[in-house]
Amino acid sequence: MTIRSTARALLLSACAGLALTAASQPARAAGSVEVVHWWTSGGEAAALNVLKKKMEGQGVAWKDAAIAGGGGAQARTVLQARIASGNPPTAMQMLGYVIQDWANEGALANLNDVAKKDGWDKVVPVPLQRFDKHNGAWVAAPAGIHSTNWVWVNKALFDKVGGSVPNSFAEFLALAQKFKEAGVIPLAHGGQPWQEMTVFDGAVVSAGGPEFYKKAFIDLDKAALTSDTMKAAFDQLRKLRGLVDPNFSGRDWNLATAMVIRGEAGMQIMGDWAKGEFAAAGKEAGKDYVCFRYPGTQGTVTFNSDAFAFFKVGKDQQAGQALMAADVLSPDFQVEFSLLKGSAPARNDVPSDRFDSCGKKAIADIKEADARGSLLGSMAHGHAAPEAVKGAVADVVTGFFNSDMSSADAVKKLAAAIDLTR
Ligand code: BGC
Repeated sequence: MTIRSTARALLLSACAGLALTAASQPARAAGSVEVVHWWTSGGEAAALNVLKKKMEGQGVAWKDAAIAGGGGAQARTVLQARIASGNPPTAMQMLGYVIQDWANEGALANLNDVAKKDGWDKVVPVPLQRFDKHNGAWVAAPAGIHSTNWVWVNKALFDKVGGSVPNSFAEFLALAQKFKEAGVIPLAHGGQPWQEMTVFDGAVVSAGGPEFYKKAFIDLDKAALTSDTMKAAFDQLRKLRGLVDPNFSGRDWNLATAMVIRGEAGMQIMGDWAKGEFAAAGKEAGKDYVCFRYPGTQGTVTFNSDAFAFFKVGKDQQAGQALMAADVLSPDFQVEFSLLKGSAPARNDVPSDRFDSCGKKAIADIKEADARGSLLGSMAHGHAAPEAVKGAVADVVTGFFNSDMSSADAVKKLAAAIDLTR
């Protein structure tokens, strides 16, 4: 045998081997999908697994591209690099304005065939459609609705200190004081910009109400941004800074949730993905933990909705992509996912009976807020203003939290930073 014929023989036998392996695999009905996301905590991973399993059951191979980092900043950076090198994923977890940015770039696929067939226009709440559709085309499928203005409390500690649900920020501080006196950290906090921003969403509503939040964070009205009301929001943040332990810096959000779960800290101010961590730890709402809205914000919901945005991809991925879009908005997935994730479903026609008291409250609060015009996009999670503005706000809020900057200086800096993005 010559070298060349040996090579050919080897190649032929390798191909035969491949064919055999392929024949012995279960039918791959709809190819494969590669999904970029930042759902790496226990609750997040469990929730995403519902989709992975559903799709694998349909014969679609799931390639997981998890990029750790709560809030998703790291994942968004990786995406940019991938798009720049012409290597988009099939789908990516995406928030609010970022979806519109990629749609404007012409990077996203048109999902109207699936959306029309499954009637998305009728069942997805209108405030979400504004982000998931672009020029009349569906480009993303929402997986659920979260909101940021929540407080999560260890129930045993709450009972021990004789706590009651605070209706005002002053009452919240009084509750925090009780935790302090009982020898526990009043507020579990993770010192990362997006977490400080998450807390600040609630502070702005609490200080000024939904109209003020809208003026300042959605309309970016200069008078509102520099007002005494905005100063009062920073004053709240300053008070909250006094309630955290010395090791807060850089801590991941789920580790802060774990401090509440373990009873090392009394409370955490965080979006309802924290509920997913309680669920993953086997904890029950009303029994092991208590949830209430950031004090003084009941009636308003600062929401963020995780959607899967779908990229323009080659033929090999298109069938899997269409199936994934349909799966994400299927009623059974919407419920199973939200039960584990802590979110409310992104469809207005699915039953809420399997949700616990906090889940039911989330669903009812969203409905009520939507009816009264106080379902407002979260600044912290990209649903109030474009990314550049969000980044400017994050710099000031984090700068404030981690220094002794005065509230008066903070509002000046805030307005100036936002001006630079106009
Ligand atoms: C996402 C949530 C996620 C949280 C923490 C938010 O931006 O919307 O789905 O659980 O970040 O990672």
